Amino acid sequence: MDERELLRSVPLFTELSDLDITSLSRLASRRRCPKDTVVFFENEEGDSVFMILEGRIKVTILGDDGREIILSMLGPGDFFGEMALLDNEPRSATAIAVEDTDLLSLHRTDFQGVMGNNPAISAALIKVLSTRLRRANHQISTLALLDVYGRVARVILDMAREEGRRLKDGRIAFRRATHQEIANRIGTTRETVTRMLKDLERQGLIRVEGREIVLQPGFEKAFD
Ligand code: CMP
Repeated sequence: MDERELLRSVPLFTELSDLDITSLSRLASRRRCPKDTVVFFENEEGDSVFMILEGRIKVTILGDDGREIILSMLGPGDFFGEMALLDNEPRSATAIAVEDTDLLSLHRTDFQGVMGNNPAISAALIKVLSTRLRRANHQISTLALLDVYGRVARVILDMAREEGRRLKDGRIAFRRATHQEIANRIGTTRETVTRMLKDLERQGLIRVEGREIVLQPGFEKAFD
């Protein structure tokens, strides 16, 4: 795919005219990040926004004790790094490639130019930021209101709905995340997650099938 087709595949830019896409393609640069590369660290100064073409980016905050809390997992078509450009503050979180990842980056002034010239892009960006705020509110309620068992169940349901696929029989199958990743989404330990997942499996509410977890009938009803 050439640069212009790649840019078209980013939902934020679908509204752009061919002319705008062509000029944007001259401004955007490609960056390949092998698995485990840090794209940038929290608190750094930031000068670029990134679009994910392929792969997965973990948005994370590290506590002083080295504990990690995962704010979000982003995939193809998503963008990140816009906040530092919008409010002129340092990076609000660290971004790490958790798979081999292909990015497009746009420099601050070019990003501001595209937004200024295309109200539709600004509107699309605000929509995504609102969705992220809703998710963050949901995450706050999960952390503040549920006990650890409820949190594990909720995060499983969220991951299934965000990343999963419906099987013909109506069950949802989704990527089997590591127990550490699940723990880091909800501020608990890996051991606790392992224990809770075993428990859910014993109750027949989840099943591990190869590299996927499958929610069994009754799971959504029990934890929605
Ligand atoms: P920026 O602050 O420049 O750098 C970190 C980026 O992570 C930030 O821009 C957003 O793009 C992204 N980010 C921060 N918080 C969240 C969140 N709660 N959900 C999704 N993405 C986020």
